[in-house]
Amino acid sequence: MTDRLSAKYDRIIDQLGELFKKTADSDARMATICALLYHKFPKNFWVGFYFLKNGELTVKCYQGPLACQVLAKDKGVCWASINRKGSVIVPDVELFPGHIACDSRSRSEIVVPVKDAEGTVLGVLDIDSDKLDSYCETDRAALERIVSMIL
Ligand code: SME
Repeated sequence: MTDRLSAKYDRIIDQLGELFKKTADSDARMATICALLYHKFPKNFWVGFYFLKNGELTVKCYQGPLACQVLAKDKGVCWASINRKGSVIVPDVELFPGHIACDSRSRSEIVVPVKDAEGTVLGVLDIDSDKLDSYCETDRAALERIVSMIL
């Protein structure tokens, strides 16, 4: 199962590599990542980016149901990822203190920070599932490779 998942991510990463030859524009690349990850994985109920702007985490491009535009500071999974400067996997959002429920159907999620060349965290890739326990270390490793392709 994990091997099949890694192989699927390998194909997606190859596809992104090809697509990104067309432009170095980070907004275009992030929009492309949202579209691919949303449409290739039925488990991904919402895929999007939140970026830091004037100390707030504000939504950028996404695919899926309508989401919160700004996330209350230091609350929830996205802010935990920003503050820890690392990826966070949440198997059950109801067990994560302070989780922000933009959509009540969200059951589990993974958040991966987007960093610049100096390692400064600029924002996060946030992916939600409507099923419990949807994300594992294979997702984390692959998504960290994918966000490293943006800039
Ligand atoms: N899951 C996030 C909120 C954003 S929505 O899920 C799209 C969080 O708790 O930070």
